[in-house]
Amino acid sequence: MPNAYLTLDPHFTVGGVNRRLFGSFVEHLGRCVYDGLYEPEHPTADAEGFREDVLELVRELGVSTIRYPGGNFVSGFRWEDAIGPKDERPARLDLAWHSIETNHVGIDEFASWAEKAGSELMYAVNLGTRGVQEALDVLEYTNIRSGTKLSDARIANGRVEPYGVAMWCLGNEMDGPWQLGHRSADDYGKLASQTAKAMRQLDPSLELVACGSSSAQMPTFGAWEHTVLEHTYEDVDFISCHAYYEEIDGDTGSFLASSVNMDHFIESVVATADAVGASLKSKKKINISFDEWNVWYVSRYHNVDKITDIESWPIAPRLLEDSYSVVDAVVVGNLLISLLKHADRVTSASLAQLVNVIAPIMTEPGGATWRQTTFFPFALTSRLAVGSALEVKLESDSYDTKVYGEVSTVDAVATHDAENGKTAIFLVNRSQDAPTTVTIDVSHLGDVSITETHTLADDDIYARNTLDDQERVGLKPNETAAIVDGKLTIELPAVSWTAIALAR
Ligand code: AHR
Repeated sequence: MPNAYLTLDPHFTVGGVNRRLFGSFVEHLGRCVYDGLYEPEHPTADAEGFREDVLELVRELGVSTIRYPGGNFVSGFRWEDAIGPKDERPARLDLAWHSIETNHVGIDEFASWAEKAGSELMYAVNLGTRGVQEALDVLEYTNIRSGTKLSDARIANGRVEPYGVAMWCLGNEMDGPWQLGHRSADDYGKLASQTAKAMRQLDPSLELVACGSSSAQMPTFGAWEHTVLEHTYEDVDFISCHAYYEEIDGDTGSFLASSVNMDHFIESVVATADAVGASLKSKKKINISFDEWNVWYVSRYHNVDKITDIESWPIAPRLLEDSYSVVDAVVVGNLLISLLKHADRVTSASLAQLVNVIAPIMTEPGGATWRQTTFFPFALTSRLAVGSALEVKLESDSYDTKVYGEVSTVDAVATHDAENGKTAIFLVNRSQDAPTTVTIDVSHLGDVSITETHTLADDDIYARNTLDDQERVGLKPNETAAIVDGKLTIELPAVSWTAIALAR
């Protein structure tokens, strides 16, 4: 049986775990909003038309910040279409997803829903077909108390208190040729800088995100971040990263090592940002908002889902409704480990997306809602990862992959809360053949005991939860864990994700 060794020391920390690492993303795409979180005819719908059963699962998932309303959608969105009396709101073409947008949900409805979910709203402005003025208008509508045209319009629409939106994305994936209003890095950098300066003239405390690359595979990756930050360095707080992973041609070994790519992506963007900062002789550090990440079978969207008939664009079609397996959930758990390992610089992240669309939560119109496999590592990590991320020392067997070369069989991270002495350890076993025994030196943590263990694994690594079998896959306690003389040992099944909680 392969082995791995881990040493934890609470004195060696990477950085504080920001709650915003456990954010998500709601886009007007497919059935994420309509027939997802909003379904006025559903038996559990509240007075505003929101499904209570979905809200309960969102709370259980432990989602901090929610990015809204897109995504590619936002680059053609006119926010003012989606305020005021619903029967007066115009239906519009959504060019991004070839759908009809009814505008029945807009900023007022979504902000109210986010409050019910206990989540912070992070708003993306349209820098595709629009620009500085639109950004200022929506900011006035959401954040100004009263006495101006747009703040009074919000009050007239039923919301007296301003929403106080703190975090704003300056457009979405502006490097992508598919994006409405796609620009060069130079043009986008100038527009983002002007927009940021204008928004900060209204409120200097806003936290602003400039668009980084849509993925590390983009031909302009690296150069894009460099140029955009040269224009925006002193105007923004974050640069965004987006990454999606999928199993291609049955190469499970490489897929299981997706976090190697995420680690490298983060470290490259940090290096680029710091290089720009150094050349500008700035004291400021730019952090990363990893505001789209997940497993996404993109090829299925292009080959099966994509709407090509220009005569009949549907309302809320079934798009990007990936059904996630155990191996997908192990990868998601490992991507969370990667985010935590970089907690000093990745201070905000959004699992893309939240409901129905590449989502941990699925719904059926008029029917059930259920947890996908990916729900479990996210919910557990969000609940247990508190305090600071620790710099763990890991020694592990390795295996060879087609895409990433030699990678470690086990990956791990830990968090420690100095105030209450609680520690959490998150581990994956990427081996497809064998369990791995991990020995963890916990002696530096004092006299600790195990309070919880949870493992996600299955004899069938492609098992999933579906409408017909909603609880096929779940977490199980890991009975192999034990501490003897300051050493914790645990057996991790092949292709598995595990969380361990310790207390003093
Ligand atoms: O999350 C799905 C899409 O992926 C988003 O709309 C876009 O920003 C990204 O390419």
